[in-house]
Amino acid sequence: MANIVIVGSQWGDEGKGKIVDILSEYADIVARFQGGHNAGHTVCFDNKKYILHAIPTGILHPKKTCIIGNGVVVDPAALIQEIEELKGLGVEINSSNLRISKRAHLIMPYHRAFDLGREDKKGESKIGTTGRGIGPSYEDKVARMGLCAGDLLFEETLRTGLQNNLQEKNFILENFFHTSNLALDELLDRYKSYGDRLKSHLSDTSIIINQAIAAGKTIICEGAQGTMLDVDHGTYPFVTSSNCVSAQACIGLGFGPKCIDGVMGVVKAYTTRVGNGPFPTELKDKIGDKLREAGKEYGATTGRPRRCGWLDVAVLRHAIRVNGLQTIALTKLDVLDHLKSLKICTGYKWRSEILREFPAEIQVLNELTPVYEEIDGWEDVTHGIEYYEDLPQKTKDYVNRLRDLLDIDISMISTGYEREKTIFVPDSLLSQWLNVTIDKKLISSL
Ligand code: GDP
Ligand code: IMO
Ligand code: MG
Repeated sequence: MANIVIVGSQWGDEGKGKIVDILSEYADIVARFQGGHNAGHTVCFDNKKYILHAIPTGILHPKKTCIIGNGVVVDPAALIQEIEELKGLGVEINSSNLRISKRAHLIMPYHRAFDLGREDKKGESKIGTTGRGIGPSYEDKVARMGLCAGDLLFEETLRTGLQNNLQEKNFILENFFHTSNLALDELLDRYKSYGDRLKSHLSDTSIIINQAIAAGKTIICEGAQGTMLDVDHGTYPFVTSSNCVSAQACIGLGFGPKCIDGVMGVVKAYTTRVGNGPFPTELKDKIGDKLREAGKEYGATTGRPRRCGWLDVAVLRHAIRVNGLQTIALTKLDVLDHLKSLKICTGYKWRSEILREFPAEIQVLNELTPVYEEIDGWEDVTHGIEYYEDLPQKTKDYVNRLRDLLDIDISMISTGYEREKTIFVPDSLLSQWLNVTIDKKLISSL
C-alpha cells in the first residue's frame, strides 16, 4: 500500500524503535538502509526489553520480512550474536524473515581497531564514536577496498581482498596505533565460517524490495541515528559516517526516489545527544539531570549517559527540510510531565545576528547562544494517555505551539515506552498512507 521512510530528526535515540515496532504490524517489509550496529533501537512489551542493533525492528513481529540493505555496514560476528540473543528471547529468525544484502559492506576487526585507535589518539577532541568500526568500514567502501557480505561465499575473493587490505592495515596497526597485527589465515577462516552461518540469509535485497513495491506491499524503511548525525547534513565532523536522511533509503535499499510515498520524522519532545560535538540547547544543570533521569537517557548501545537539553526548533526545521518530512511522531512527551516551565529554542543569537536556521559551520555553532520561548509546564500526568482529547490543556498548547512553529502534521504522540502508550492523531497523514484506522485494540494486544 505504501513505502514509508522513518528517520530520526535530532541526534538519534528519538524513539525510532518504538515507533517502527508499532507500525511494523501494518507492514509487509521492514528494512534498514544505513548505519550498522552503532544503532540501538529499544522496544518493550510483555515486560521484556529488546534492543535491536543491526536487525530491523520488524523482526519482533512474526511473518514480516526484514531486510538489511546494501547501505548498512555489517559486522558478521556482532550480527550472529544479535540473532542468537534475539532467538534466546523467543524471537523467530530464519532465512525467510531476515534477508541481508550481498552488497552490504562488512566491518572487519581492523575497522574496529582503527575506530578505537583514532579516538584514543584524538584525546579530548574525539568524536565519541560507539567504537564499532562503522566509520572505517564506510571509508573502505568509498576507497574501493571494502569486502561485501556476498564475498563471504567466495574464498578466493575473500583471500585476495584480505591479503590486499592486511598489507596496509597491519602496517598502520603496528606502526601508527602500536597494536598487534592481524593474521590472514585466522581472519580468512573466521570470515569463511561467518559466511557459512549467514549464507542462507544473503540475497539481492533490491530485487525483493522492488517486487514488493510493484505488488503494492507496505514497506517501512527504518532509519538509524538521526539527521544531525548525517555525514552531509549533520554537525560535521561530529557525525556518523553514513547518510541518515530519508533519500538514503533509495540508495541503501536500491529503489528509485519515486517509490517513496511518505516520510515521517521521529522527534523527541526534548533533545539528547551521545558523544561529543555541538549541542546548542544542552542543559548542564539540574534540569538536564532531571530529563536524563526521567527519560532514562542512557545509551542503548554503549550505556553512556546522554547529554540532555531543550527542544530545538531550528534543528527540527533543518530536519524537515533535508529529509522532506511530511509528518512527525512526537515521543517521550511524558518525560516533561513534572517540569514547571518548558523552553523551546526558536533560533540563535550569533555575534549581532539572529539566526533562524541551523548553521553549517562548527565555529558558529560553538559561539552561538539559543533564543528561547518559555511555555508553562503542565505539571500533570500524560504518561500512558492514549487519546489526544485526554491530554491536559497545557500539554495540547505545547503540542499546538510546536505544530505552529514547525508547520507540520503530527501523526503520533508517544506517552510511554510501552506499545499501547501511544496517541494516534486522527486523520493524520500516516493513517492516509497506510490506508487504515490504527486499531488501538490491536496495538494493545500485540
Ligand atoms: P531509537 O534509537 O531512536 O530507537 O531510541 P532508543 O531506543 O535508543 O531510545 C529511546 C528510549 O526511550 C528507549 O528506552 C525507549 O524505550 C524509550 N521511549 C520511547 N518512547 C517513549 C515515550 O514516549 N516515553 C518514555 N518515557 N520512554 C520512551
Ligand atoms: P540510534 O539508531 C545516538 C553517535 C555516536 C557518536 C557519533 C559517531 O540508536 O539512534 P559512530 O560509532 O557512528 O561512528 O559514532 O554518532 N551515534 C549515535 N547516537 N543514537 C545512535 O543510533 C547513534 N549511532 C551513532 O555516539 O557521537
Ligand atoms: Mg538508540
